[in-house]
Amino acid sequence: MAKTADLPAFEATAFRKALGNFATGVTIVTTNDAVGEPVGVTASSFNSVSLTPPLVLWSLAKAAHSRPAFTESGHFAIHILTVDQEQLANRFAMSGADKFRDLGWDEGQLGSPILRDHAAVFECTTRHEYDGGDHIIMVGEVVAFEARDEAPLLFHGGQYAERIVREAGTLSGAATEAGSAVDLIGAAHAAVASGAIEPEQLAEALDAATLAKLARLLP
Ligand SMILES: Cc1cc2nc3c(=O)[nH]c(=O)nc-3n(C[C@H](O)[C@H](O)[C@H](O)COP(=O)(O)O)c2cc1C
Repeated sequence: MAKTADLPAFEATAFRKALGNFATGVTIVTTNDAVGEPVGVTASSFNSVSLTPPLVLWSLAKAAHSRPAFTESGHFAIHILTVDQEQLANRFAMSGADKFRDLGWDEGQLGSPILRDHAAVFECTTRHEYDGGDHIIMVGEVVAFEARDEAPLLFHGGQYAERIVREAGTLSGAATEAGSAVDLIGAAHAAVASGAIEPEQLAEALDAATLAKLARLLP
């Protein structure tokens, strides 16, 4: 069995893969930046901590573009995503992108943007920030929440669980239809963003001609 203390660098991929065996939900965590603009990231590191006081946690990569917004605002809102919000999860997993474009949201009690669709939302005051290696562990005290009777989006092994079921059924073949190609590219992006696979592994899975064609297509 691998010991973490002397984990060789080349085992990092195996470590990530092992962690991916833990199934989670998917959240979007939002706050405001220094000029009041909405900021958000997709995060699966959410967990409950305490009932009294009501505490929850999630961890933010130190390298995240949104790090200053989250560490300086003093508040955040955690949205648990529904099963049909996979595309939104992929959008908020893109670093620095214009994530709130054409998206309806309202200002929460503490100022964080509240997305209109979700399975639950928790509005939090930032209570503690702990150093967690390449992440910051953010602990929030919940000041308000709302829950709806919606099926949650699940994530496992670097993929959305719905996708695993879908691919086992109707999409068992290669991405021959336009829709399935778009789905596969979305899933590949999510797997890289969540750390389940390395960007190099993705590049290796696509031959040079395909990569060149894709690059020419993009605006
Ligand atoms: C399913 C999934 C779960 C993720 N979980 C986390 C997480 O818990 N913490 C984190 O910092 N990034 C997580 N990410 C990656 C961030 O969403 C991604 O790095 C994002 O680009 C950060 O945005 P920013 O650089 O604009 O701040 C996750 C991505 C996906 C697709």
